[in-house]
Amino acid sequence: MNERILPPISMLAELTHRCPLQCVYCSNPLELLKADRELSTDAWRALFEEAADLGVLQVHLSGGEPTVRPDLEKLVGCLTRRGVYTNLITAGIGIPEGRLEALQDVGLDHVQLSIQGANAPTTEKIGNHRGAHEKKLQTARRVVEIGLPLTINAPIHRHNIEEVPAFIDLALSLGAERLEIANVQYGGWALLNRNALMPDRASVERQVEIVEEAQSRLQGVLAIDFVAPDYFAVYPKPCMGGWARDAFMVAPDGTALPCHAAATIPSLHFERFGEWSLTDIWLNSPAFNAFRGDDWMLEPCRSCERRDIDWGGCRCQAMAIAGDAAATDPACVKSPLHSRMATLISQANSAPSTSSDNFRYRRIGRTL
Ligand code: SF4
Ligand code: FES
Repeated sequence: MNERILPPISMLAELTHRCPLQCVYCSNPLELLKADRELSTDAWRALFEEAADLGVLQVHLSGGEPTVRPDLEKLVGCLTRRGVYTNLITAGIGIPEGRLEALQDVGLDHVQLSIQGANAPTTEKIGNHRGAHEKKLQTARRVVEIGLPLTINAPIHRHNIEEVPAFIDLALSLGAERLEIANVQYGGWALLNRNALMPDRASVERQVEIVEEAQSRLQGVLAIDFVAPDYFAVYPKPCMGGWARDAFMVAPDGTALPCHAAATIPSLHFERFGEWSLTDIWLNSPAFNAFRGDDWMLEPCRSCERRDIDWGGCRCQAMAIAGDAAATDPACVKSPLHSRMATLISQANSAPSTSSDNFRYRRIGRTL
C-alpha cells in the first residue's frame, strides 16, 4: 500500500435507497436509486470480503432502510465471520418479529435508531408516516430487551430543536447507551428543504446550553454526542474525518464515494465496485485523491494551524455555498465567504417556506 495512504477504518454501506419514511432532512442524493439498481447479495458479499482484506474494521449498514433487504442476515454474517464490527442504522419501522434476534444470532454488534421527534406528532410529520413514533419505540425496546447496545440518533432542525430536553428523557427511558443530538447537515434533501428546516440563533444557543448541562449531569449514564450546526459555527467540522482519510461510503449500486454528497461535485467521477476493485478505488481513484491530505488546499487553509484538524471542512458545503469544492468551507470564520452563512440563516428564517406545509418529502422518482 502507498505509504502516504493508510487503510480505511470504516465504511458506510448504503444497501438500498428504499425506505418506509420520507424524511425531509435525508442525506441521500435527490436522485434515489430504485431496487433494480441495487447490488446483489453476492456482489455485496464480495465487496465486504474485499473491504475486510483492505483493513476496514467497522461497517455501518445503512440506507434508506437496510432491513428492507431480505439478505441482511447473510451480509451481517459475512462481515462478522471476518471480525468486522457491524452497526445497523435503522428507521426502526416494519422490522418483523424475530428479525432483530436473527441479526443478533449472526453477530450484529450495535443498533443505531433514528427518531425524528421526541413525541408522535413531530416524528410523524418529519418522516411523513402515521404511527412511526410508536413503531420506533417498540423497536428500541426490543433492541434493549435482547441485549444489543442502542444509540438513538436525533436529527435536529427548527421543527424539533425545542424537543432536545425531551429527547434526552426519551433516550434515558428507553435505556439507550448513547444519544446523538445531530443538527442536520444541509446536503441532499436537507439542502432542498433548507428554508423550512433552519433554526434561529436563539434556539441554537439554548440547545447548546441544554446539551452541555446534560452531558455533565449524565456522565456514566448516557453518552451524548453533539453534532454542531455548521451554519452557526466558527470553525467547520472535519467532514468524514478528512476526505478519503479513514472512511468512505458505498451507494446501493456499488459506487464508492468519499462522503454522502460527493456526487454533487460535478468535476469528479466516481468508480463502481465490480468495474474497479475496492483497493484500486481507495488508492488510485482520482476522485478519492482529489482532496486527500492538505496539498490541494488554497489560502487561508494552506497556511492555517488547523488544516490538519478540520481538513478545510466540508468539500460539498464549499461546492454548495462557494461554488468551488476546493474553497475553504464557508462555515469557517476565516473564509472570505463566511458572512454568507449568516445571510442564509436570516434568509431562511424570514422565508415564506419556514412551515412544514412547504416540506418537500424524500421520494424515489420524485420530480423536483
Ligand atoms: Fe480549517 Fe481552513 Fe478554516 Fe483553517 S482556514 S480553520 S484549515 S477551514
Ligand atoms: Fe462531502 Fe462533507 S459531505 S465532504
